Amino acid sequence: MNEIKKISMIVNGKSYSFEVDIRESLLEVLRNRLHFTGVKQGCSVGECGACTVLIDGTAVNSCIYLAVWADGKKITTIEGVSKDNELSGVQKAFIEEGAVQCGFCTPGLVLTTTALVESGRKYSDEEIKREISGHLCRCTGYNKIFNAVKKAIDKKQTGSN
Ligand code: FES
Ligand code: FES
Repeated sequence: MNEIKKISMIVNGKSYSFEVDIRESLLEVLRNRLHFTGVKQGCSVGECGACTVLIDGTAVNSCIYLAVWADGKKITTIEGVSKDNELSGVQKAFIEEGAVQCGFCTPGLVLTTTALVESGRKYSDEEIKREISGHLCRCTGYNKIFNAVKKAIDKKQTGSN
């Protein structure tokens, strides 16, 4: 028998309360119930990073994170990254560096990069590569993505973001 639980979460600054089957993933809830379709479903097994969202500021693969675990937490999806119709510094860096083609991997990469930028610390090139290694891109190769992530972090460090 299915077990149903009522949960609450804040997604992109707005509160939601609803019932879920305890087996539902956060990805399923965000896409199918709350219609944040910027959260992409790729592998569904934690390998591609397409479904990445921020949970209390930490980048997480939402496909392998149960919705009930997000009870009481703050979630950011790609829909919540820009402010007042202005793209974030991370989004601008991805555009400036040409790091987007089909765009399927982009929301997850932007959110992981946002978490790196918001941490306020510096990252070596090797650390950046390790931090984004959980994201698969079928289109761009990875050099432009790496350049965009590095640019976004550098802009934040120099206060030009
Ligand atoms: S869909 Fe979640 S990691 Fe691939
Ligand atoms: S831009 Fe197409 S998968 Fe990355």
